[in-house]
Amino acid sequence: MSSHPSEAPVAGRKPITLHRLREMQAAGEPIAMLTCYDASFARVLDAAGVDCILVGDSLGMVIQGQTSTLPVTLEETAYHLRAVARGNRSAWLIGDLPFGSYQESASQAMRSSTVLMQAGAQMVKLEGGGWTAETVRFLVERGIPVCAHLGLTPQSVHALGGYRIQGRSDEAVTTLVKHAKELSDAGAAMCVLELVAVAAARAVKKEVSMATIGIGAGVDCSGQVLVLHDMLGVTQGKLPRFVRNFMEGAPSIEAAVARYVADVKSRAFPDDKVHSY
Ligand code: KIV
Repeated sequence: MSSHPSEAPVAGRKPITLHRLREMQAAGEPIAMLTCYDASFARVLDAAGVDCILVGDSLGMVIQGQTSTLPVTLEETAYHLRAVARGNRSAWLIGDLPFGSYQESASQAMRSSTVLMQAGAQMVKLEGGGWTAETVRFLVERGIPVCAHLGLTPQSVHALGGYRIQGRSDEAVTTLVKHAKELSDAGAAMCVLELVAVAAARAVKKEVSMATIGIGAGVDCSGQVLVLHDMLGVTQGKLPRFVRNFMEGAPSIEAAVARYVADVKSRAFPDDKVHSY
């Protein structure tokens, strides 16, 4: 029956490991990441060759219809992770720690990460710089791979005064680089850079050993990520300029995702003249 999850690995694709991601980073091969929230899309993304799947708290907006990521809970994230884990065979699976699930203490972050890892995550992501370095070290020392997230951090949207480009002034770049170095030194293996000026993203990449994954941060990152519903043209309304609709001219969703992967790998996407700041 076509609606049953397939047990077979995706043909010709070895499961992506942290070791493989580090090899890709060392070889300068861009890492292609997309968000995903259910088993059916997970199968499509996996078959299309996506390296990393992020069960992001963007699910608040694209699945639940909320106006921000703030209402998303740990249990909701775990629910979507379990679904994605059933559909995925090979992609590296990242679970997003939602607002309020890790800010209190490193122990709280450990308890929340345990929930996500037991739901199928292979890595957790958390937002912010400065105080987060201690939490990252705590988690990494206890065997949990961590992806950091700097620049526009949507869980702090009210404190940041809206969805604004980050890393514009010299002072902002200095702080961004400092936070990134601290997170990298604490053991974060990856860092999403969201809505960050191209020059700032370049400055970060030069200074850190972790992979930088850009979303509106220019082509010179170690990889790219987009929200699935944005790049498939499902999201309504005005989209940020870093989004490209890969469904345009594509014969199927899998073909659109495969095109995204190919364009990230060849560095045809993003085009800094069109999609970056
Ligand atoms: O929640 C999410 O989907 C994210 C991506 C935008 C990186 O954090």
